[in-house]
Amino acid sequence: MKIAVVGTGYVGLVSAACFAELGHTVTGVDIDAAKVAMLKSGKSPIYEPGLEELIVKGLKSKLLSFTTDLAATLPHVQVVFSAVATPQGEDHKADLRAVFTVAETVAKFADHDLIFVNKSTVPVGTGEKCEERMSKVLKDRGASLKIPVVSNPEFLREGMAVGDTLMPDRIVVGVNQNDHARKIMEDLYRPITRVGKPMVFMSRESAEIVKYASNAFLATKISFINMLTELCEKTGANIRDIAKGMGLDNRIGPRFLHAGIGYGGSCFPKDVKALMATAKEHGLDFSIVEATDKINAKQRERFFKKILASLPPKSTVAVWGLAFKPKTDDMREAPSLDLIPMLLDAGHGVRAFDPEAMENAKKLLPSGVTFTSSAMEAAEGAHAVLLLTEWDIFRGADMGDLKKVMKGNDLWDGRNVYEPKEVREGGLEYHGIGLR
Ligand SMILES: NC(=O)c1ccc[n+]([C@@H]2O[C@H](COP(=O)([O-])OP(=O)(O)OC[C@H]3O[C@@H](n4cnc5c(N)ncnc54)[C@H](O)[C@@H]3O)[C@@H](O)[C@H]2O)c1
Repeated sequence: MKIAVVGTGYVGLVSAACFAELGHTVTGVDIDAAKVAMLKSGKSPIYEPGLEELIVKGLKSKLLSFTTDLAATLPHVQVVFSAVATPQGEDHKADLRAVFTVAETVAKFADHDLIFVNKSTVPVGTGEKCEERMSKVLKDRGASLKIPVVSNPEFLREGMAVGDTLMPDRIVVGVNQNDHARKIMEDLYRPITRVGKPMVFMSRESAEIVKYASNAFLATKISFINMLTELCEKTGANIRDIAKGMGLDNRIGPRFLHAGIGYGGSCFPKDVKALMATAKEHGLDFSIVEATDKINAKQRERFFKKILASLPPKSTVAVWGLAFKPKTDDMREAPSLDLIPMLLDAGHGVRAFDPEAMENAKKLLPSGVTFTSSAMEAAEGAHAVLLLTEWDIFRGADMGDLKKVMKGNDLWDGRNVYEPKEVREGGLEYHGIGLR
């Protein structure tokens, strides 16, 4: 099948490369000319394990190409995916301007019937709004083309995006009474459904909600366990033992019960807030989701306050991990973006290391941060080391060696990855979250 994927970011680029890997002919479209030039040369503008290899392979086989010109691509494709960003806009609502621009461009330049598939995370009712806008554009140009809008939300995890796309837990497709669109989606995803992965059809409105509901539910699990950490600190209980005791119950499950400084990233914070905004618009009380958001903010703040209160004036602090999570260079809503300016404002020095996100971090953090080429180099002369992102490379740090290069002896474990006993045996003070 011949398809276009508009928006070659974390979702669109992975989708485009994976659809090409599955044998479809794919054109990735982006308004960012520099990004497109880079992609044409076989370089990935983002760090995502396995992605660059797929891009190179796709370009070589000619199943994958890139352009900035959506209008010129339309005559050659049967399906247009929109995977543009939907960041937090006014009043926490999703900003849909890019989605509408893509939909209207498709309606303006299409020369035959197409399927428009919305892969971005969009509030319920967006598919209908896209259809209305497209109908208007088609009417204005006197065209009687059929361009149904399908919802196909994306569930990939950054850092695991290629595997998640080729072998997803499920493919959710929202189509409203259109057998042709349904058939096209079935054909498109057949290489994945053929190996047993489920494809779930539902109304477009339901599909739009599934995405927000899934993210808000996962975020709630994280906030729930984080809520208990303060109680552990007050009572001497251990949050890891509690998570284990809870997670072994099949009805609960162990995942997303890992306490820490809370969630960040390009999805959970904005999607939780967007769902709250949708509820408000409909006059509904989504107090669970509101509490999730509130606990997450408080968890981060609580940890940061403790760190700041513990540091002697003009300390040097090593920050291990800048990205919002491991295996990505994505800095959106990363805790480091909050904490590092606070440390600098308080007069402390910051030495930071991240295996992949330093180039992006340099553009976002204030000057005054010293970026180093290894974790141990960041720790040299530091009064405290703060682990903010649980990259594997930090997990194996030898505590004795760390102690030797540091000036002070405080290890703040924002992700609860270290064994307190081992840290202490190495001669350091351990500060975790909800455990001693
Ligand atoms: N990042 C994730 O882990 C993830 C996971 C699931 C769903 N999503 C959702 O997928 C959507 C995309 O997220 P992302 O992280 O890939 O965003 P992103 O910011 O990484 O990528 C968006 C891309 O769209 C391009 N773009 C913007 N306007 C355009 C236009 N008019 N025409 C062509 N290209 C345009 C940008 O240049 C950019 O390359 C969002 O709705 C997000 O919520 C993201």
